[in-house]
Amino acid sequence: MTSLRGRWPGWLLALLLVLPLAGLVVGLLKGHLGVNPVETLTHVTGEWALRCLILCLSMTPLSRVTGWTWPLRLRRDLGLWACGYACLHFSVWWLFDHGLDPASMLGDVLKRPWITVGVATLLVLLPLALTSTRAMVRRLGGQRWKRLHRGAYLAGVLAVLHFSWLVKADLFEPLLYATILGLGFLLRWPPWSGRRGRADTVRAFR
Ligand code: HEM
Repeated sequence: MTSLRGRWPGWLLALLLVLPLAGLVVGLLKGHLGVNPVETLTHVTGEWALRCLILCLSMTPLSRVTGWTWPLRLRRDLGLWACGYACLHFSVWWLFDHGLDPASMLGDVLKRPWITVGVATLLVLLPLALTSTRAMVRRLGGQRWKRLHRGAYLAGVLAVLHFSWLVKADLFEPLLYATILGLGFLLRWPPWSGRRGRADTVRAFR
């Protein structure tokens, strides 16, 4: 069981990651979200979903390079925050762009490939969030759970693709995220990673 003291990185993270959401709620209530509040809601939730996902995928490489174990314990929280912001992002789009109409939403998903990629990202993230508990690790068994959670890399690649599709001029941010993902993949490559993968899964739940 993680002691109360051992949980402080998670609490600190929650405190920091709730700020953009609080900013949106306050901005919405006070009418401070600019000339196009829906656009602001879509952009802020999308950006934070992507940032949390990239941070989540960077925790194992960071732990491997530094030997620190605290990044492993933040992976689950970061993944849940990524999924939470992604669900909000999706809800804003479905509510404001399609008035919650499933047929209109589906039409858009089929018509615009970058939207298809966004939806695919969310569909990969959701089962990971739903199986992120200790009880689900036990139920699925360590190996199956790990195989399923490798989907997080796929979600990372899809999310960067979705973002890159939208960016027309300044490619700095998508390139930065793609580089972080690429370095993370390299650091996880079997010749370097050895047998550490299983130990990392165990540590993440301590
Ligand atoms: C669930 C399905 C999704 C839909 C329907 C969707 C839709 C959208 C839309 C409509 C925009 C605004 C495009 C514009 O500026 O014209 C957007 C932007 C964005 N989305 Fe998504 N998205 C989805 C999933 C995701 C996911 C899962 C992530 C990340 C994990 C993500 C990250 C982003 C980012 C980073 C932006 C750009 C924000 C900015 O302009 O700064 N999206 N998305």
